[in-house]
Amino acid sequence: MKIGMLTGGGDCPGLNAVIRAAVLKGSREYGHEFVGYLDGWKGAIENLTTDLGVAQVQGILSRGGTILGSSRTNPAAIDDGLETVIRNVRGAGIDGLIAIGGDDTLGVARLLTDNGLGVVGVPKTIDNDLNATDYTFGFDTAVNIVMESLDRLRTTGSSHHRALVVEVMGRHAGWIALHGGMAGGADLILIPEEKFTLEAVCRQVDASFRAGVAPLIVASEGAIPEEGSEVTATDDTDAFGNIRLGGIAGWLADRIEQETGHETRSVVLGHLQRGGTPTAFDRVLATRLGYRAIEAVTSGDWGMMTTLRGTSVDLAPLADAVDESKTVPLERLREAENAYPG
Ligand code: F6P
Repeated sequence: MKIGMLTGGGDCPGLNAVIRAAVLKGSREYGHEFVGYLDGWKGAIENLTTDLGVAQVQGILSRGGTILGSSRTNPAAIDDGLETVIRNVRGAGIDGLIAIGGDDTLGVARLLTDNGLGVVGVPKTIDNDLNATDYTFGFDTAVNIVMESLDRLRTTGSSHHRALVVEVMGRHAGWIALHGGMAGGADLILIPEEKFTLEAVCRQVDASFRAGVAPLIVASEGAIPEEGSEVTATDDTDAFGNIRLGGIAGWLADRIEQETGHETRSVVLGHLQRGGTPTAFDRVLATRLGYRAIEAVTSGDWGMMTTLRGTSVDLAPLADAVDESKTVPLERLREAENAYPG
């Protein structure tokens, strides 16, 4: 078989591990040939390809980002975009695609499958918000980066008797804030799933200082104040209609300082959470998903994506992942609150 492969959406530690695993198993066990499409769906629309074989995947297991490049190009938002992808893929004699991405990329994969093109998806996002899979690779790496950052910020906060608000990624799901915050012993975690009040935040800040702790507050970029709405970096949206969030930490820090009189600073972790080498957990998960994707392609399981259920790697329909996102159940946030000071 001839297989096209692409990576779409935000980069994520573990993308190269998936590519490597799929190419190694596909070439050696089944004798498949591979073509890499550059920059996600952009490459499939503009026919931007690169050689992809055993030689190209040597040594990439530990490398962050993606050797294929990425973009947020949406063929469904471009005139004849889906038809162009189908024409280009078929014209190159490619039997099917492996699309590695989040809900946007996999949403396009589903549309293409509905239109008769063979696509298998591999779920990717540091946000861990894709349904039908227990964990996405990249999430564990991001959580470890948040944890390490909190450990470092804790020493500055307590030395200077300052409150610190740390903004982490997560548009509509607070998984990174929850796990990173719990692992780093946060004094308060704010997630998009539950609106917060400024009064409750200030109450926790005061309680932490009274308990002798300089508070560390972890806020998802999509956390929403009861008194307002999401804080956005710009009004622009990307090709999938996603607004660019950002600024909640600065917004909160100003208000906490005004209301409580405690000096308060903000830190935005931003793309540090997506960069660099994947953790062992993410390398293993990504590798297993890559192997499973090749088996799915070989047996023609089009319209499916690889999943992790417990410790088993399996397949689920793409529709299950893209129709609804996986948000944090509020009882998980209640668990984390047991460690808040005061
Ligand atoms: O990939 C998901 C994500 O990490 C979101 O948490 C975040 O809002 C977004 O990407 C940022 O994307 P970009 O790098 O395109 O601004």
